Amino acid sequence: MKPLIVSGIKPSGILHIGNYLGMIKQAVDLQNSDKYSYFYFIADLHSLTTKYDPKEKSKEVMEAAIDLLSAGIDPKKSALFVQSHILEHANLAWIFNTITSMGQLERMVEYKEKVADGQTPNAGLFDYPVLMAADILIYKAQKVPVGEDQRQHLELARDIARSFNKRFGKTFPEPAGVYTKALRVMSLSDPKKKMSKTAPAGCLYLSDSPKKIKEKINTAVTDSHKEVGYDPENRPGISNLINIYAEFSGTSPEAAVKQFKGASYKEFKAAVGELVALKLQDTQERKANLEKDKKEVLRILENGAETARPIAKKTLEEVKSRVGLI
Ligand code: TRP
Repeated sequence: MKPLIVSGIKPSGILHIGNYLGMIKQAVDLQNSDKYSYFYFIADLHSLTTKYDPKEKSKEVMEAAIDLLSAGIDPKKSALFVQSHILEHANLAWIFNTITSMGQLERMVEYKEKVADGQTPNAGLFDYPVLMAADILIYKAQKVPVGEDQRQHLELARDIARSFNKRFGKTFPEPAGVYTKALRVMSLSDPKKKMSKTAPAGCLYLSDSPKKIKEKINTAVTDSHKEVGYDPENRPGISNLINIYAEFSGTSPEAAVKQFKGASYKEFKAAVGELVALKLQDTQERKANLEKDKKEVLRILENGAETARPIAKKTLEEVKSRVGLI
């Protein structure tokens, strides 16, 4: 079997191009490299740790599945499934809880940030990184593509693998993080801030129509310079558009600047709008089709779970026997 890559994404509603370039594109590129087996799951259990509406949850999970499939996750190459459909994740997390210290979890920055942000400090939120370690180690994954913000959680997963192996004998490989090299996408209306759903005006959604995409890019905040130039520190708006252009066309910001030497902002913005609209076209078509065929989506998720489940069961059996459960 090829080395295994495992990654999860929380179902968090509508996706924007920052989510796409930061994470999904990398997953799709890795999948298409054919060097790995790929397990990709929707972290629905993790999503219960922050405030949510139970009436919306199943819709959000379906939406996440549809978004991933339409962005290019190919069920023939990758197993796509829902975390809660594989009971072994939570079961392994329990065992990992017993070899993880309070101190290790108290150091987690994301937990502290979420609490500072007003989330209820429930035990699940505190324990979030242990479940994440179980998600990864239950498949003995070698590589884990995650955002930079997940580095500390991934380090913890490595620590847990190491402690487990030390105490109970070599069982888990230490998973390596694969951190995307994608440039950070900033808000179109406030380019000093990261693109985020919380500021919808500056947000380019994967579902925006070509007209809307072009409109949003045309009205993106830039500066009063006359020519396209790259200087993220002092000219964040135009530099952000250059980054977006570079990412979608697979070149570097420097090459993009060269290409548009002498072009006005208006001309450059038109080119960025055209490119993004074109690149999202396939994704949008696939999405429209999947939305009409939810049964097919459920079938894909079930197939994905059937691929993942036997591996999860085998690891859990091994772990139970190592720790002495009968
Ligand atoms: N915590 C990850 C995030 O917020 C999502 C996630 C859950 C995950 N379990 C995982 C990512 C396992 C990689 C591997 O992005």
